[in-house]
Amino acid sequence: MTPLSINIIGSGSMGHLWTAYLLDKQVNVRLYARQHQPNQQFTMQSPNRRFTCNITHHALTNWQTADFIIICVKATALEALCRELKNIGHAHPPIVLMMNGMGIIEIAQHYLPETVVYQASTSHGARLENTNLLHTGQGETLIGEISTLNQDEHQAARQAAQNRGLITPLLDQLNRALPQTSWNTEHHQALWTKLLINSIINPLTAIYNVQNGDLIGNKEINQQAKRLTQQLAPVIQQYLPLQSWQSIFEKVEYVANQTYTNVSSMRQDILMGRMTEIDFISGYLLEMAAKQQIVLPEHQQIVKQIKKLEKESEHSHNSVTL
Ligand code: PAF
Repeated sequence: MTPLSINIIGSGSMGHLWTAYLLDKQVNVRLYARQHQPNQQFTMQSPNRRFTCNITHHALTNWQTADFIIICVKATALEALCRELKNIGHAHPPIVLMMNGMGIIEIAQHYLPETVVYQASTSHGARLENTNLLHTGQGETLIGEISTLNQDEHQAARQAAQNRGLITPLLDQLNRALPQTSWNTEHHQALWTKLLINSIINPLTAIYNVQNGDLIGNKEINQQAKRLTQQLAPVIQQYLPLQSWQSIFEKVEYVANQTYTNVSSMRQDILMGRMTEIDFISGYLLEMAAKQQIVLPEHQQIVKQIKKLEKESEHSHNSVTL
């Protein structure tokens, strides 16, 4: 049997996390980044052990096909990347999208209609500090598909079984490298749950410039998080009928506690003067709510605040570099 080959695209903390753990298991993995960077030694500090690995950043112009592709770029960079992948020209193997937000499968399918696309939801925490990779939170990774949602029941079941079979070798490999990784039959629910959690933790930590744990530790922020979650009650009833706003709030507090000292990805983006994923998190949520005539005033307010912060931080970063 020929060994599996995997292309990972995105040189942020998630891309490096998976590359390092897969390399450690001698998997044939190539990491693609914006710019080529020759072999460099990275040190992985995982909760249980420390190891080193050599990682090369390959440019997309040096693309080599593989059995699977994992995309770990930000949702904001996905469209441009899919256009590049389309230009690379050959038929692509199955793709797993590993990033925050929703509405992203649609983008990939639009540009790469012949490719099977999955979306993963992961709760691993990671931070990249130069060549130090910190695995800050042991989580789990769920992969499933939601592209069969609009088909009739039988067609959807057949398609899901086929797609599950297609991805099994990758699931096995990922699970060996970084457990727990598994197939999720209720994936739509998992993605919605993560979306709701991100819609509370990410903007609040960015707006108040605090670590995730302050959603529990700071009384006022905690009250606002609770209010924002309560406001989602009609959306939850519509899109996640097995949950309640209280159960989602418990999950928000659980994740904030598990990732207590983490700098959320949205806060990181603001601090670095980058565009945030707000359109793919709260923006998507507002869009889905509007479809059901549900208005979420405090979430609308939050989106405005983040957009304002994006502009201010972009401006201050530009003035530093000029
Ligand atoms: O986007 C993030 O930062 C993460 O999804 C989470 C779970 C909020 C932890 O920081």
